[in-house]
Amino acid sequence: MLIVSNWKAYVEKLDKAKALLAAAKRAAGKGGHELVLAPPAPFLGLLTGVRTKVRFASQDLSLSTGGAHTGEVTAAAVVGAGASYAIIGHSERRAAGETDEQVLEKVRHAIAHKLTPIVCIGERERDEDAQYLKFVREQIGAVYAPLSPKERLQVVIAYEPVWAIGKAAADAITSTDLAEMIAYIRKVLADYIPGKGNQKVRIIYGGSVEPGNIRMLAGGSGVDGFLIGHASVDVPTYSALVKALS
Ligand code: PGA
Repeated sequence: MLIVSNWKAYVEKLDKAKALLAAAKRAAGKGGHELVLAPPAPFLGLLTGVRTKVRFASQDLSLSTGGAHTGEVTAAAVVGAGASYAIIGHSERRAAGETDEQVLEKVRHAIAHKLTPIVCIGERERDEDAQYLKFVREQIGAVYAPLSPKERLQVVIAYEPVWAIGKAAADAITSTDLAEMIAYIRKVLADYIPGKGNQKVRIIYGGSVEPGNIRMLAGGSGVDGFLIGHASVDVPTYSALVKALS
């Protein structure tokens, strides 16, 4: 499974970042999971130096390509700091004004820099008429339709319903609903990646994944991994999460 820790702005001290990296290193290789850490940008290059199985992601990506752009964290700088993934279109970035068009440009920009984009999609709320399915389909289409067939295969989708983010395990999605969503997303992907190719796209889930529900969500839902926020920034909780999947 692909287990991505989204540290958001929870981690502000280097000591804590190093303790979490040490926990990831201990867990890496066990159970065959791919562990990815997405630290706040200033810590990225400080953590990646040592040879390890742990991989790294940026939490966002600037569309700037170097030069006079004060404050921008460019793709080339992120790659230079040792990241191989980029989280793109997180709902917290979208809430700050990021548009589908910008998400698409960032995805292309990531791929051009050999970063694997982890594209976040997900409805804000669920309605009885299932309009949220249409919303999710349109979010996927906004990214996939303009991409080339080759680019489409390089995207990781993170299904993160906004209503489930930052709560507790009890408020997260059920495994039945998750299985339904993964099947739905695969069906939508089939419109853009015909044949068996869409089966290769990794679809991960995020939203209040905790040690108490990760196993249940993994079992039989068809999910390929998780994008984990608050539960990934405490060493014992993080270790328990990875252990629960072993
Ligand atoms: P959460 O966040 O695990 O704290 O719900 C997940 C995310 O927003 O990526």
